[in-house]
Order: sequence, then structure tokens, then C-alpha cells
Amino acid sequence: MTGGAGYIGSHAAKALSRAGYRVIVLDNLIAGHREAVRYGELVEGDIADVAAVGAVIDRYEIGAVMHFAAYLDVGESVREPIKYYRNNVIGALSLLEAMAGRSVTSLVFSSTCATYGEPLATPIDEAHPQRPINSYGETKLAIERAFPHFEQAYGIHAVALRYFNAAGADPDGEIGEDHSPEIHLIPRAIEAATGGRGLQVFGDDYPTPDGTCLRDYVHVTDLADAHVRALEQVAGSGRSAAYNLGTGVPHSVREVIDAVARVTGRAVPWTLAPRRPGDPAALYARADKARVELGWSPRFSDLDAIVGTAWGWHRSHPQGYSGS
Ligand SMILES: NC(=O)c1ccc[n+]([C@@H]2O[C@H](COP(=O)([O-])OP(=O)(O)OC[C@H]3O[C@@H](n4cnc5c(N)ncnc54)[C@H](O)[C@@H]3O)[C@@H](O)[C@H]2O)c1
Repeated sequence: MTGGAGYIGSHAAKALSRAGYRVIVLDNLIAGHREAVRYGELVEGDIADVAAVGAVIDRYEIGAVMHFAAYLDVGESVREPIKYYRNNVIGALSLLEAMAGRSVTSLVFSSTCATYGEPLATPIDEAHPQRPINSYGETKLAIERAFPHFEQAYGIHAVALRYFNAAGADPDGEIGEDHSPEIHLIPRAIEAATGGRGLQVFGDDYPTPDGTCLRDYVHVTDLADAHVRALEQVAGSGRSAAYNLGTGVPHSVREVIDAVARVTGRAVPWTLAPRRPGDPAALYARADKARVELGWSPRFSDLDAIVGTAWGWHRSHPQGYSGS
């Protein structure tokens, strides 16, 4: 598992381990946390180092790969595309090269709804045109587009999981979200509710019921479950595919702020800021394909359950992993 010291990877490692798999995490800890690797063995290294990745594959007799390692800040990707192309494209291609050289043929890949760009219609299904509007989305799409060629030439079968907004924390409170800087709405709203940085709402004049943007929040434990299912499908059937992972139920920024206030019992101070360029009014998934083909259905993705687990993690780890 690349990037298994990060937010989603650490939850997937827990799910895999519970399902009986042995997990080896390859992470350079640029954004991850040693303490987040509770379900697997950590090997420090960079995905761009083909020889090092190959050595891990050999040493641990790796049977399948989950690839989470990437940069994921959309705004930063617009300012620094080189950084994003280098890590998300060259890094991923290096990983694929190491896999191809050693006949590892099953891959589960962290993709994103950002590959769709401005939605032409909502909910977004997998057949929606993929026309990213930022370099982050482009880098993820570039790797998705490489898959058929790597499958034909090297027999690598890949499942691309296109997450919508990952949120929440392990319901057992063992692991959670600790990005630095934090860019995601729910932890930012919790931060604001607990006396930290103020929260900005970018635009309240969108064509949505309350004027703020609509997004699809999916619990990280549900994402983790989908990874186990995707792995078993691709390793068992050798069939490549792409799946949206979302709930199909959009929530506005205002609704999320209200949920954080309700769950924490505290006011969430926020200020209105101008719209951000490239923020579509509504982004939410049609995730029927994952339900039908993977048998996946979100169990924790009710908004209050998401916020409740995120709040539980924050209360027990106010400084994130550095305080644990
Ligand atoms: N968080 C979301 O809402 C979201 C939504 C859609 C897609 N994704 C995708 O999911 C994946 C995981 O996201 P996350 O929120 O867990 O991010 P994260 O930053 O918490 O985790 C990424 C991990 O990858 C590691 N990493 C980065 N570059 C590396 C490299 N070159 N070599 C080795 N390790 C490296 C980091 O140290 C970190 O531990 C990413 O690929 C991201 O694009 C995330």
C-alpha cells in the first residue's frame, strides 16, 4: 500500500487487516504519520524510486497494490503543477514500472471526482465525460488513461476508485484525519468551533437551495470497505473497472456547518468569502455501479455520523498525531 500512512490509506489498512490481509505500507511520510500505520508494516521510501519499490515487492512477496500516495490540494496543484505531475504522474508510473517488471498484476488506484471537471449533469455517473479543470484532476486522469495500455502490455488489471469528499474518522477512534495544512471542510469547521482558525465560506450565491456549494461526503471507513471489495474483485476476476464512491446525497456547506454545530454543541464562526474559481455549484455521485458490482453500500455516511466520528477523533487528538 503506497501512502498508507495517510488519511484514507490508514483506514484501508485497518479494513484490509481485519479482512485477513497482510499490509505493507510504503510511504515517504511527506504528508503521512508514522503513528497512523497501526495495521501493517511501514517501509519508508518514495514511489518514484523504481528500484526501491521493486525491492519491497520482492522482499515481501507483494501480491497486489493499493496506490494512495499522491498530492491532493487542488489550489496548490494550480499554482505548482510541476510538483503534482512529478508526484502523481511520474511517481505513479514508476510504481507501475516496478509492478510490470515483477508481474504484480492487481492494482487499486485512488482517483477522484476531480477527473470529471465541471459537471454537465448531476448526479455524476462513471460515463460522465472526464475533463478536469485543474492539474490535480489531470494528473489522476493521466494515470487512469495509462491503465488500458499497461493492461494490454503487462497484464496489470486496475480498479480506479473515484472518491467524492472523503470525511469522518475511524469509529473506534484509532485513526483519523490529520492533514497539514488542513483544507477539508469538516475538520476546518471543527477547528473553528474549538477556537482555532476561522472558517471561510466561498460564495453563497450559487444556484443551490441555500446558495452554498453542494458536495457528496463519504465516510472514510466506507471508502476503506470499498477498497477491500475492489481488491477482491480485481484480483479474483482480473477485470479492470472504474467506480464512483459517494453517497449520492449532496449536502451544502451551510448544512455541514450546521451539523458541526449540532454535533459539537458549539457555534461555528464563519465569514463569507468570494467564490473560488473552478468550484462547481454541485458535485455528487451516482454510485450505483459500485453498489451493484462491488456489493458496496455506505454504512457510516450519514452526515451526523461523519461529523460525529470526526469530532470524536478531534477530541481525543486535538493536535492530530503529533499529540498522540
Ligand atoms: N481526501 C480526499 O477527500 C480525497 C478525495 C479524492 C481522492 N483522494 C485521493 O486519495 C489518496 C489519499 O488521500 P489522503 O487524503 O489519504 O491523503 P494523505 O496526504 O493523507 O495521504 C497520502 C500519503 O501518501 C504519502 N506520499 C505522498 N507522496 C509520496 C511519495 N512520492 N512516495 C511515498 N509516499 C508518498 C504521504 O506521505 C501520505 O502519507 C490520494 O491519492 C488522493 O488524491 C483523496
